[in-house]
Amino acid sequence: MYLKKQIVTAALPYANGPLHIGHLAGCYLPSDIYVRYQKSKGMEVLFVCGSDEHGVPISLRAKAEGKSPQEVVNHYHKMMGETFAAMNIDFDVYSRTSDPIHHQTAKEFFKTLYDNGTFLERSAEQLYDPSAKQFLADRYVTGECPNCGFDKAYGDQCENCGKSLSPEELINPKSTLSGVEPVKKETKNWYLPLDTMQDELTSYIDSKKGIWRNAVYGQCKSWLNEGLKPRAMTRDLDWGVSLPISNTEGKVMYVWFDAPIGYISASKAKLGDDADLYWKDKTTSLVHFIGKDNIVFHCLIFPAMLLKEGSMVLPDHVVANEFMNLEGQKISTSRNHAVWVHEYLNDFQMRSDELRYTLCALAPEQKDADFTWADFQARVNNELVAIFGNFINRVGVLTHKYYEGLTPNFTQAREEERILWNELENEYHQIEECIEAFKFRDALFHWLNLSRIGNKYLADQEPWKTVKTDEELTQLIMYNAINVAALIAGQCQYFLPKTFQTLQKVLNLPHLDGKFSKEKIEPEHRINPIPLLFQTIKDEEIEIQLQKLKPRFELKPMIEFQDFTKLQIVTATIVKANKVANADKLLQIELEVSKNETKTVLSGIAEHYSPEEIIGKQVSYLANLAPRKMRGVVSEGMILMAEDNGKLVFVSPEEKIENGSEIA
Ligand code: 2FM
Ligand code: ZN
Repeated sequence: MYLKKQIVTAALPYANGPLHIGHLAGCYLPSDIYVRYQKSKGMEVLFVCGSDEHGVPISLRAKAEGKSPQEVVNHYHKMMGETFAAMNIDFDVYSRTSDPIHHQTAKEFFKTLYDNGTFLERSAEQLYDPSAKQFLADRYVTGECPNCGFDKAYGDQCENCGKSLSPEELINPKSTLSGVEPVKKETKNWYLPLDTMQDELTSYIDSKKGIWRNAVYGQCKSWLNEGLKPRAMTRDLDWGVSLPISNTEGKVMYVWFDAPIGYISASKAKLGDDADLYWKDKTTSLVHFIGKDNIVFHCLIFPAMLLKEGSMVLPDHVVANEFMNLEGQKISTSRNHAVWVHEYLNDFQMRSDELRYTLCALAPEQKDADFTWADFQARVNNELVAIFGNFINRVGVLTHKYYEGLTPNFTQAREEERILWNELENEYHQIEECIEAFKFRDALFHWLNLSRIGNKYLADQEPWKTVKTDEELTQLIMYNAINVAALIAGQCQYFLPKTFQTLQKVLNLPHLDGKFSKEKIEPEHRINPIPLLFQTIKDEEIEIQLQKLKPRFELKPMIEFQDFTKLQIVTATIVKANKVANADKLLQIELEVSKNETKTVLSGIAEHYSPEEIIGKQVSYLANLAPRKMRGVVSEGMILMAEDNGKLVFVSPEEKIENGSEIA
């Protein structure tokens, strides 16, 4: 049970790309359903979100596009705001972290911590790009992951094994700006001493045992068990919130310091100083909706910041979802393997509720889920159209056919109606319980059951037969059916807000609410003709979407023939192969490149081939690639592979030829 006042936040999306279905399913849709429900129960809820406009990926994108970071974020802030509105994700405020009010709020917060001696001031050697004259924070540097050997790990995280890293830990680091090997240079930064807060944070997290989802609690415990370390809250960068300390030009706040403060500044953007009535009232419940990659920031780092600030509430609930895959593969923005929400809305004529329904039915609450277009089609056609739409439509058609749209009067209900309303009431309570427990897919299932029960009632009672023989009985059946329709309509407001609006008009109930009642519609009440609520999704529409997901061949910038001749690609035969310890993806391979001459190559194909099956295979070998040391082994070149949707295959000569033959 929650107290009366709530701040519900949805993770601020980075303003460096459009929204895809994974964003909606993991964060924005569940939070919107939850808030709609809480508000319908009379809770005072402040639902905040906004664009996260700082951080290295935004600077990198701006650089790649030859724009300023502000130009990039302006574009995506507007676009995301429009997409949220079109999907009826109804924030009370959608703000942004480049807004002056955010800079001011973040600086005040930082200053409070600075003044009360929270920060640890540390000078340390950090990676520096001498040619770009810049420190290499976070994603400005890539290199080999010390944990799994992946060679494109970022300075803040390895996307292969998920390990959170600092740039100095990378093996063979390279600057993303110039490609050069960075040097070390001393610089000063301000750290949050998480190590000294270990006990305080442990008791906070322990108090959430059995309340937060296991995955969230478990991840926090594993961070705590590893032992928290001081974490830098500032960066040597030129894009971000500057520090409210003198002589710190060229330094800004770490994006994960200022982003969660974005929840507070967004509240201020909406309410001004009255935001304190939420944030500084100890009875307020603060609920964060996030994706699983944000757990540590919301469950440990932001609470640590709030504890040190001292005047505001701590997160009461952190609802973290797993990831939504697409057609069996991870959503990838770089490979364009995604369903972009603005494109969906365009292709499907703004039919937002159909997407909301499917994403909620598949929500990745306990484990990663998979969105497929076939499933989307089936959900819309077999559930929204055939169960919900069908029930509402039949009630409307029969009411107009028998009573010209006027709700009939009714006589004493029978055992049949008592059973009907008992079943409905049971489902109704399940919907409420599930939403309050953040189980939105189950809630939706119980909501659909209301229509299943309604359809069964009509099928069993057959008013189309009784109308010929028993006028009173038909009136009783139709009175009940109309009221079932009103109950279902009232409950659809959380999940399907657009359809809810339509039904309010159609049922002529402008104040239709979500309360349980057998008598939302009284005798003599007029209902309007009911339009078709949902259209069947046709095979052709699905085929178009599937085609869009087929990888596209994209031409890279042209090169000169001279450039090509620099590559020495030759045939070679695999004579030996074995797995590399502690590196799931790597095989160490020995290649015969000519008689009595072998080369050693590390190849990331271990998940596709076993060592035994590749012995004797003739392959294409890039011989003059500068040697690289990985996992203590020097890799002398590269075996060429072709990739088809994540599947790797060798590029081999059509027939066996002499090893060392040039490929050109
Ligand atoms: O992972 C992300 O998309 C971040 N932009 C989320 C930030 S949430 C909050 F702290 F603002
Ligand atoms: Zn790794």
